[in-house]
Amino acid sequence: MSKLAPVSIRISAPKGVYDVIGADTVRWDDLETRFFETAATWGYPRVRIPVFEHTELFVRSVGEATDIVRKEMYTFSDRGDRSLTLRPEGTAGMVRCFVEHSLDQTGLPWKAAYGGPMFRAENVQRGRYRQFHQFGVEAIGVDDPALDVEVIALGWAFLRHLGLVELTLLVNTIGRPEERARYVDVLADHVRKAVPGLDPDDEERLELNPLRVLDSRDPRVVEALATGPRLRDVLGDESRSHFGAVLDGLDAAGIPYEVDDTLVRGLDYYTSTTFEYASGTLDSAQNALGGGGHYDGLVEMCGGPPLPGIGFALGVERILIACESEGILAEVRGKVDVIVLHVGETAEPARRIAAELREAGVRTDVVFGNRSLKAQFKQADRSGARVAVVVGERDMERGVITLRDLDTGEQSEATLDSVRQEIEEVIGS
Ligand code: HAM
Repeated sequence: MSKLAPVSIRISAPKGVYDVIGADTVRWDDLETRFFETAATWGYPRVRIPVFEHTELFVRSVGEATDIVRKEMYTFSDRGDRSLTLRPEGTAGMVRCFVEHSLDQTGLPWKAAYGGPMFRAENVQRGRYRQFHQFGVEAIGVDDPALDVEVIALGWAFLRHLGLVELTLLVNTIGRPEERARYVDVLADHVRKAVPGLDPDDEERLELNPLRVLDSRDPRVVEALATGPRLRDVLGDESRSHFGAVLDGLDAAGIPYEVDDTLVRGLDYYTSTTFEYASGTLDSAQNALGGGGHYDGLVEMCGGPPLPGIGFALGVERILIACESEGILAEVRGKVDVIVLHVGETAEPARRIAAELREAGVRTDVVFGNRSLKAQFKQADRSGARVAVVVGERDMERGVITLRDLDTGEQSEATLDSVRQEIEEVIGS
């Protein structure tokens, strides 16, 4: 039987995921490095947590009634028929890690940074993807408004040091669960009376998770909310004084903010302080470069002691979009500084020169295959290198090689002994 050639099929990446290539990779890595350096400077060393967890962890912590759990999780059964989920966010895994390793024994607050890919089956648009990337911090174990301020200030300092200017810090408090329970009844009543014929989405929110109606985009609801009851007005003394202390702390740290009564955020574990870093460069539906808040019951819900926590996560893709819009993306060097070309039977000595340069830490590429010098120079131009080293047969007999500055076109000769030094002079300039 004759063997059929395999059918060639082009398979593209699934919707909402993408590749990071070239200069984007460099900027991406740089952003990540800077974040983890900043976090470490503030006493938040990096930990690495898994990309998937037991589904139950997210259902219980993020909350059954949230959009994330109801509509957006990538959940699958493994070979042992256990239900696992690709993490839609990092806080649940960090708290699970804290509890699993009894990290409360290591001194409180336990402070740590984390990051990596997160997965949510969302409607894809600019700044909203199905695999996206976050980095963030969590501080677990101490109930002190000053710790809320530290966490908020860390994210703010990082974003400002990137050079972002069109940045607004939004803060709010959503109180304790019992305070919220009192509020949501009054709120649902008010909205239903003020807006007859409520949009099915908002009706569903009122049924399942009434606070989320504060996120409504229906102008009638927005208007009704403006005159409606405010959560802050039903808070008890403790919640009020915690929030007051957070605002005082931000004032003392010189961090500008806006109190946003509608900032409830889409995860159920929050209590008291919530906050977001909004960028003026993105559409309002995706303008949060990051967000976070305080959570009181989460550690206990995950089987740990009754300790509070506070943290935030920033979205890498959105930060890069904001940096691009504000014109502060770093210039990225070409992928190498030197490219070694060869003419005639000199491939071997060319490779030796490249090996020496690489050994000395000079970013160097070589040309492969049998190509004309013209084609090799074309490749050299594309490579982004500053210097081309041309290794020719006749030059080699004289013990020299040619260096061409690819920016200016200037050529010079170097002896084999001096080639490294001469190159370093050009690329160091
Ligand atoms: P979150 O607000 O769901 O919070 O996500 C934080 C940030 O991740 C967002 O502000 C946004 O920049 C980015 N992000 C979220 N979803 C997407 C998406 N589909 N595509 C692109 N970027 C996205 C949390 O995840 C909490 N765990 C934050 C936290 C930490 N709270 C306490 N500690």
